[in-house]
Amino acid sequence: VLKRAFSSSTSLNAVKTVTVVGGGLMGSGIAQVAAQAGQNVTIVDLQPELLEKAQKSIQNNLTRVAKKVHKDDAAKVEGFVKESFSRIKVSTNIEDGVNADLIIEAIVEKLDVKQELFNKLDLLAPEHTILASNTSSISINEIGAGIKRKDSIVGNLTHIPLNHVSYFRFGGLHFFNPVPIMRLLEVIKGDHISEETYQTMMAWGKSVGKTCITCKDTPGFVVNRLLGPYSAEALRMYERGDASKEDIDIGMKLGAGYPMGPFELADYTGLDTNKFVLQVMLEKTGDPVFRPIPMLDKMVAEGKLGIKSGEGFYKYKKVYPGLRA
Ligand code: NAI
Repeated sequence: VLKRAFSSSTSLNAVKTVTVVGGGLMGSGIAQVAAQAGQNVTIVDLQPELLEKAQKSIQNNLTRVAKKVHKDDAAKVEGFVKESFSRIKVSTNIEDGVNADLIIEAIVEKLDVKQELFNKLDLLAPEHTILASNTSSISINEIGAGIKRKDSIVGNLTHIPLNHVSYFRFGGLHFFNPVPIMRLLEVIKGDHISEETYQTMMAWGKSVGKTCITCKDTPGFVVNRLLGPYSAEALRMYERGDASKEDIDIGMKLGAGYPMGPFELADYTGLDTNKFVLQVMLEKTGDPVFRPIPMLDKMVAEGKLGIKSGEGFYKYKKVYPGLRA
């Protein structure tokens, strides 16, 4: 009944123009997959040099994708890169990015900064624009608390108290790093998302090549909620001396079929990020499974952050970051 009660101001799969606010690691990946899928993209960032960096990394990644698809056909490779790249505009001015069907925020992970941005976007963007956050640890409900845009309701809804109707044009689109490679997209249903916006987000995710799953606005959503206790226990197992880190990694790869062991994964995501995620999850859930891990705290204090610093649980070659020494 509710589904039918919403007007179709944004028909499903109608997203043709996308703006990504924040052109860092995640934002540049999101922009790339949208451009690859034929959509027009604007990346907005505060700093021109970060926009330049984003453009360079997108161009390199597009070339990699094109070489996989078109193999040795140099003309096709060049054509694909040129065409996809030409769909991406960049700007340091948010007003250049507001005319879009979908605006995805991928800026710094701070509630007040995100709220300020969304309040601004809500004022500046056209009525039909869907707003979304790529946050991984902040509540979607809190981020969108000030957003007013709604999908309009038509028909006779007198049997449903209006304050019980969920209908905001805002939700979570949680991507995984590296965005062009990881196939999952978590579509987060805040308490007040409209059915129409949710369905459009699911359809858009599919259009950029992702498999979408849905989760309520709960700490860590699906993947990080489950991954957190798993990696914490792996670290504690090593800390207790139950097994070596190498054997734990081999165990989970060969015994559980995971592509990386927990220590390889921690080095890849960054030990500082792991520590931050544990802290946030402990605050949000109160579950002691997320309590601090002394070994992790010590390594972060020593600057052993994983691949990005050249050393984490393993050592990495400086010339080929990611390759173990
Ligand atoms: P990043 O630090 O690489 O990029 C953030 C970018 O946002 C920077 O280029 C910065 O200049 C820009 N920025 C900051 N404030 C801004 C503002 N007010 N307006 C415009 N641009 C602004 O960060 P990263 O890793 O890309 O993360 C971005 C978001 O994605 C965060 O919310 C994070 O939690 C989330 N996320 C990160 C994942 C990861 O693995 N790094 C995975 C999934 C989500």
